[in-house]
Amino acid sequence: MKKKSIILIGFMGCGKSSLGRKLAKAFHYSFYDTDSLIEERLHKKISCIFAEEGEEFFRKEETKQLRLLSENEESFVLATGGGLPMREENVALLHSMGTVVYLSATPEMILSRLQKDTSRPLLAHTEKEERVRSLMKERHPIYLAASDYCIDTIEKSFYAIISEMEKKGLVTARK
Ligand code: S3P
Repeated sequence: MKKKSIILIGFMGCGKSSLGRKLAKAFHYSFYDTDSLIEERLHKKISCIFAEEGEEFFRKEETKQLRLLSENEESFVLATGGGLPMREENVALLHSMGTVVYLSATPEMILSRLQKDTSRPLLAHTEKEERVRSLMKERHPIYLAASDYCIDTIEKSFYAIISEMEKKGLVTARK
């Protein structure tokens, strides 16, 4: 199995999809996003999947999606859902595909970015600030353990993050 892809993990709203899209474009990789792939495959928004089928169903779909991606021969940049690395099985699949990069952020950054967001079911029905802080505290060590590299995104532009990744040798331009 190949190990040439770049996998972005991290908390909701840390910039995985936006950065991933820019990274893929700059270095000529394909770009995928697990949430979008699941939505396309099931013809349903993530919030609908959570509401109609429940979280456990969604988590199984995430693993299914990773298995499908791991059969893909091309190299790609992959943005993953924030909860995906919580399953050990998923982490093993990510490592089989490529280099896993954790984009770390602070609760303040996430809260300001997701202030008006209504698309994340895990943040929809509770007090947002408390929920973000406790989920981040729980997940941060798991993201760290699941990643090959951690990039601190605090007060950095996408351009600065991409050039840091390039300097670290995490990404090289494809023809
Ligand atoms: C989730 C994160 C979301 C999405 C779903 C669950 C999570 O993706 O997969 O709402 O458990 O953190 P983003 O990280 O892209 O927001």
